[in-house]
Amino acid sequence: MDRQRIEAFLKKRTYWYHKMELAPGLVTPGFNLEPIWDQTRRVRARLDYKGKAVLDIATFDGMFAFEAERLGAARVIATDCLYKSFENFLFCREVFSSAICPYYNVSPYNLADRLDVYFKERYDDVDDDRLFDVVQHLGLLYHLRDPLRSLMQARSVLKPGGALLLETDFLMDREESIMLFNGLPTAARVRDNYSVWWAPTKTCLIEMLQASLFEVDHKSYSEFFFDVPGRPEGRILDSAPDGAQPYRIGRAALIARAVPVSNAHPKLAAELMRTYRNPGFEDPGA
Ligand SMILES: C[S@@+](CC[C@H](N)C(=O)[O-])C[C@H]1O[C@@H](n2cnc3c(N)ncnc32)[C@H](O)[C@@H]1O
Repeated sequence: MDRQRIEAFLKKRTYWYHKMELAPGLVTPGFNLEPIWDQTRRVRARLDYKGKAVLDIATFDGMFAFEAERLGAARVIATDCLYKSFENFLFCREVFSSAICPYYNVSPYNLADRLDVYFKERYDDVDDDRLFDVVQHLGLLYHLRDPLRSLMQARSVLKPGGALLLETDFLMDREESIMLFNGLPTAARVRDNYSVWWAPTKTCLIEMLQASLFEVDHKSYSEFFFDVPGRPEGRILDSAPDGAQPYRIGRAALIARAVPVSNAHPKLAAELMRTYRNPGFEDPGA
């Protein structure tokens, strides 16, 4: 695409989350979150994307979806419920000559249900169940009022043995299996941000994944302390004033594999299959 058109678009569209180079020297003006993104990339390097079907949940401007495609994924679906960024995504898709299929009206709570038009299409590839080899669940868990529901949904759309690449805020320095509630409207225990609800400990995160039919690849686990950049150039100005934050919040990334329900303890399996008590687990291939 010609440079002038990119320049004009960047002038018009000023709200970006990701930084993506659209032409030499022309980078989308996203947040200064490179330490988070680099950790995700390091953990992701353990996965082979070649020829794989990948789902990127909460894709925002789509950086990790485009990267999945560049890593050789055969098919990439990108979802979000952020209409505000849809035009950014579409523009980048054109710049990168990408074949990613975006659905910007799909919530992470309803993947199996809302992606039915994708899973249940039966025209050319009748034998293909279209479940995913990799689901990217990045920078999302702590934004959700109901994180377990979204993990179960991610599990629902993965092939058995498929990989979940997960990245999230987490509560550091505690061994117990607990989730710190952000305490809206005013406590800001996790972040001073109204779209943040929880920070689980590492133990809790791993147990939530086990309770959602995942087996964590412990070797993939990575973490670091991360204070939200308060600098104006970081463009996130919601960190608590110095010393006001009694909890250490970091970022954790890991890979977990989808295990069959038959591997679970029989009582857990029975509980998970009672969908009226545990909305979320569906078999879109069924
Ligand atoms: C921190 S950004 C992460 C973007 C991208 N996945 C990444 O890791 O770079 C949060 C994303 O989660 C989505 N999101 C935030 N709160 C949400 C909610 N309650 N329900 C669904 N999506 C949400 C936003 O639309 C946005 O795409």
